Amino acid sequence: MNKILILFAHPKYERSTTNSVMVDQVKDLAGVTFVDLYECYPDFDIDVPREQRLLLEHDIVIWHHPLYWYSCPPLMKQWIDMVLEFDWAYGPKGHALAGKKVLQVITTGASREVYCSEGRNLYSINEFLRPFEQTARLCHMQYMAPYAVMGTHRLNRDQVTLYADQYRQIIECLHSGADIEQVKGCVFERDLPLSQVSD
Ligand SMILES: Cc1cc2nc3c(=O)[nH]c(=O)nc-3n(C[C@H](O)[C@H](O)[C@H](O)COP(=O)(O)O)c2cc1C
Repeated sequence: MNKILILFAHPKYERSTTNSVMVDQVKDLAGVTFVDLYECYPDFDIDVPREQRLLLEHDIVIWHHPLYWYSCPPLMKQWIDMVLEFDWAYGPKGHALAGKKVLQVITTGASREVYCSEGRNLYSINEFLRPFEQTARLCHMQYMAPYAVMGTHRLNRDQVTLYADQYRQIIECLHSGADIEQVKGCVFERDLPLSQVSD
């Protein structure tokens, strides 16, 4: 059974209509440790030893956040900057995270259609998420094809519930070691080179 660490970052969680429903579905699941970064570190003063200890105790890390300006909210970036230290996560002696898997779970206000060369945002979600993919790779972690809930501004309550249910199934599959492809109707962002796609 894989142990899963969900690192969640949402600066305006009290106003959330999508992530709040998703979080409710996964935060208490067996085998899951859920960390709400904005709740733990409202002043951005991250407890690095605690976060590193948590990483060591888990097999799979979930970076879960809404897309903000084509990237993550600032506390998630702060977490990356502070926790993934030289000669711990990367560098000549930095192999602490080797072999762990990362799944990025994001929500976007804009719909899938605008995330392409013909669309308003010009680039795909994978292209916007490249820095995260490469960060994971530099830290010897396996970056899986991301799970994105897109077009949140237009989703109704039933649709959000469906995505939240898919998210729960993904986490349950990851926990049990099963293939997340089994989760019906799930769309993973797949313009990664095939060699990088691994579930
Ligand atoms: C500061 C800010 C920046 C945002 N940037 C983007 C963006 O770059 N691309 C996008 O599709 N949506 C963007 N959005 C929309 C959010 O991603 C969307 O509102 C969120 O995923 C909805 O989830 P929630 O209901 O849990 O807040 C942004 C929203 C805010 C507040």
